[in-house]
Amino acid sequence: MVPEMMTGTTLTLLLLLGLILVMRSRGAKSTMPGPNFCLGVGPLVTYIRFLWMGIGGASNYYNGKYGDLVRVWIKGEETLVISRPSAVCHVLKHARYSGRFGSKYGLQCVGMHERGIIFNCNIAMWKKNRIYFIKALSGPGLQNAAALCAESTTRYLRSLHDVIAHQGHVNILNLLRCIILDVSNRLFLQVPIDEKDLVSKIQNYFDSWQTLLLKPNFFFKFRWMYKKYEDAAQELQNAVANLVEQKRKALLEAEKLDNTTNFASDLIFAQSHGEMTTEDVTQCILEMLIAGPDTMSVTLFFMLMLLAQHPKAEKEVVDEINTLIGDKQIQNGDLLNLKVLETFINESLRFQPVVNFSMRQATEDDVIDGHFVKKGTNIILNIGRMQRGEFFVKPHEFKLENFQKTVPSRYFQPFGSGPRSCVGKFIAMFMMKAILVTILKQYSVQPAKGRSLENISKIHDLSFHPAEPDCMLEMIFIPRRLNE
Ligand code: HEM
Repeated sequence: MVPEMMTGTTLTLLLLLGLILVMRSRGAKSTMPGPNFCLGVGPLVTYIRFLWMGIGGASNYYNGKYGDLVRVWIKGEETLVISRPSAVCHVLKHARYSGRFGSKYGLQCVGMHERGIIFNCNIAMWKKNRIYFIKALSGPGLQNAAALCAESTTRYLRSLHDVIAHQGHVNILNLLRCIILDVSNRLFLQVPIDEKDLVSKIQNYFDSWQTLLLKPNFFFKFRWMYKKYEDAAQELQNAVANLVEQKRKALLEAEKLDNTTNFASDLIFAQSHGEMTTEDVTQCILEMLIAGPDTMSVTLFFMLMLLAQHPKAEKEVVDEINTLIGDKQIQNGDLLNLKVLETFINESLRFQPVVNFSMRQATEDDVIDGHFVKKGTNIILNIGRMQRGEFFVKPHEFKLENFQKTVPSRYFQPFGSGPRSCVGKFIAMFMMKAILVTILKQYSVQPAKGRSLENISKIHDLSFHPAEPDCMLEMIFIPRRLNE
């Protein structure tokens, strides 16, 4: 009972005091290192840091400052930033971390909320959709990927003949994006596309996704604030919806289905059986088309820069290609024999990863390395930082020697692992090998004068990538004689 003489002011003061005590106890409950809750200032500061530095940049900041297991807050929600191998492994392998996190409104704007696969947090739906991706990225798709990559790379290089012959600068990132998109289309969709136009729409889509992913809810109260991002996402969605329509027509008109069935047709059939909505079909195809160009093109760009900066590694890679492949076209059997190339790719993915963290959410209570983790806790697995751990001989240098002895998977996870790992990990390795072999057999690729990986400006947010547009990212192709 509130005593009668108690005034409204006293009551308010008591309520405030109670609130402060509750907040302090919430802040004090966590046993994990990290900034103090400090009456809500901690959560505000950590969130601002994530918005300001980008997810990757802020994660590195907190792991650097507080250690490899840190508690921060994003949008007021408890978030763990983890770069300790044992804890990363624990999260990766358990299905109770199959969720991802991000602004619901932001994801809705880019069509990823409860749709597609990459940020689909509706676990039942994600599981169903993932099966279509796994099917498309294994079996015949995987078998055909290398040949298609070699063929497409050769064709694109030929189309640049004049620029290359005059040692002009090639926009290498866009070249790689077009090659990968062309191959993705031939594997998963098979309709005529305008690669350049779609590549620019994909880049705008990625920018919107990155910008909106962690935005506060109030940002979505004012349409003028997010409209341009929503429009950019919509442009790609419309373009992909048109392609799906073309595919649908092609399927209806086809006399025999054998040659026209693939990932897209499987989804279209699933929709006609009432198992998927039109929007979900479009989103799955959109995500399949963006997954490769978003990741592999930047990875290959980093690799070409690393080769140019490490001539000894380049010589080893090229010697192996000359010995095992020579003048012939790369075959699937060669892919597993190119050991030096594989070591080079692994070391590049370790040293300069494009996807250097993974975002997860706990779908059940759990304990990680002795710390209680509540259901709903957000998790950032800072894989890029983990891969620079003491296990490696020269963790902070690019050295093929880092992979001289077998590396246990708990120290090296460029594609994640477990139930929510990268579905494209095998095809990505096949494709990157085929594209690298096709380029390196003919050319030595050099960056613009004075440019190196260290001095090009990069963005460290949803992924780690070069800042564009920057003409200094362009590279020169110098013909290489095989007997050189
Ligand atoms: C260099 C190339 C690539 C890298 C480094 C990479 C890396 C990753 C990583 C780290 C994740 C998150 C894994 C996790 O949370 O544990 C991921 C997810 C994913 N990747 Fe890749 N990826 C690459 C290429 C590809 C390709 C070529 C495709 C498909 C064509 C693809 C499709 C996906 C999809 C669909 C997911 C989401 C899986 C899910 O949430 O269930 N990736 N990738």
